Amino acid sequence: MIKKLEFSMADVFTLNKIEKACFGREAWTVANLVGEYKNEFSHFFADTEDDAIVGYACVRIMYEEAQICNIAVLPQYRRRKIATSLLETVADFAIVQGCERCELEVNTANIPAVELYKKCGYDIVGTRPNFYRRTRRYPTRDAYTMVKQLKTPQE
Ligand SMILES: CC(C)(COP(=O)(O)OP(=O)(O)OC[C@H]1O[C@@H](n2cnc3c(N)ncnc32)[C@H](O)[C@@H]1OP(=O)(O)O)[C@@H](O)C(=O)NCCC(=O)NCCS
Repeated sequence: MIKKLEFSMADVFTLNKIEKACFGREAWTVANLVGEYKNEFSHFFADTEDDAIVGYACVRIMYEEAQICNIAVLPQYRRRKIATSLLETVADFAIVQGCERCELEVNTANIPAVELYKKCGYDIVGTRPNFYRRTRRYPTRDAYTMVKQLKTPQE
């Protein structure tokens, strides 16, 4: 079941565990998550199974554009269309907020995510070289910018 999250430290700690399971050393920290929650443009959605959060998405509603900041599903719950449902919920929410499109950046090498976004109606509209900064573990990496039109601008 997908629900919109209001701020709670218990959820922040759960999301941090999901982040670590999904992104390892590049996970959003508790401080990152609290900061994102405090951003007036940010909204969090979660999928729960037996009352436990197993996946989440974060979106910033920036006037006519919804920016997908992050989406992650625990490894043992993948390929059950949880991310698809989260993206559908985010798109529905963005439409209600008056957005015309959803936009995101994704590592060009992240095939599961790129395929997910394509299947959910996102098109690759550009490539941003070295979008992800070099870390001790990884070299710089490129990102695709992907966009899903929610409605035509003249509508
Ligand atoms: C990317 C991610 C969110 C997908 O979550 P999910 O709940 O498993 O996705 P869904 O079940 O909704 O998959 C929908 C479609 O996406 C594509 N897809 C998902 N995982 C895939 C994989 N490992 N390889 C290829 N395509 C994949 C498929 O087209 C899939 O449809 P299908 O199962 O009918 O073939 C998940 O793998 C994840 O959390 N990854 C780590 C975090 C991450 O990279 N987040 C994206 C940051 S931009």
